[in-house]
Amino acid sequence: MFNKALLCTAFTVLSVFTWGNAFAAGDAAAGEAKSAVCAACHGPTGISSIPINPNIAGQVPGYIAAQLKAFKTGERVNPVMAGQAAILSDEDMADLDAFYAAQDAQTSTSMTDEDKALAEEGGKIYRGGYAKRGIAACMSCHGPSGHGIPKNYPRVSAQHKEYLEQQLLAYKKGERRGYNGIMADISFGLSELQIKQLSAYMAGLQ
Ligand code: HEC
Ligand code: HEC
Repeated sequence: MFNKALLCTAFTVLSVFTWGNAFAAGDAAAGEAKSAVCAACHGPTGISSIPINPNIAGQVPGYIAAQLKAFKTGERVNPVMAGQAAILSDEDMADLDAFYAAQDAQTSTSMTDEDKALAEEGGKIYRGGYAKRGIAACMSCHGPSGHGIPKNYPRVSAQHKEYLEQQLLAYKKGERRGYNGIMADISFGLSELQIKQLSAYMAGLQ
């Protein structure tokens, strides 16, 4: 655990020179005004009712701006979000980031019995890693309760399981590389069943 904590600290420090410098501090009030167009898919405060549209409320500060930038440059490929991000300036991204980071993340979740069984297995990997493939515990970067660590380690709790699963599969297939390729490497070593289990677990985290 100690080494993993150190590893995360090193990444966090690194981020100061990457994402950290890319954006000035945003203005949440300006971001709220700019979020009207986003509300159709992500909900008025970043809680979406459609599972494939991620919840973006209460994300770690800096993450939303970084993802918008990645969609705009094409580094993260998604046709819908590419269109949305194309017209945003760095200032718009920072303002939207400040607005969504300040919103409450949804915490109430209802789980089916099938989800509960999947989550039980997923929790073991989330908390303990998967030594056979050299995969560190997810909680060493995303936190024990999935709240994430600014700026690079996103919140993974209060999220739709469908979205989480889709993203882990995208990393696994090399369709999403992400920050330093960390998640691509990790997901490559996970089976599709383990991805399902982890997604059920994270979606149920409070
Ligand atoms: C037409 C629907 C739609 C609209 C409008 C839309 N989004 Fe999205 N957004 C999506 C979908 C779908 C995804 C998932 C993309 C993927 O799978 O990579 C997404 C992903 C994101 C992500 C990445 C979340 C994460 O956890 O990595 C951010 C940030 C985001 N959107 C912000 C915005 C903002 C800000 C706006 C308004 C400027 C906006 N979106 C407008 C559908 C939409
Ligand atoms: C060494 C740190 C680290 C570890 C360990 C780690 N992650 Fe991540 N995770 C990240 C980073 C960094 C990102 C953002 C990647 C990007 O830019 O796309 C991320 C992103 C994610 C996302 C996408 C979130 C979103 O909103 O789109 C999911 C889901 C995720 N991780 C799940 C996991 C799971 C499950 C594990 C354990 C098997 C895990 N992570 C272990 C660093 C880590």
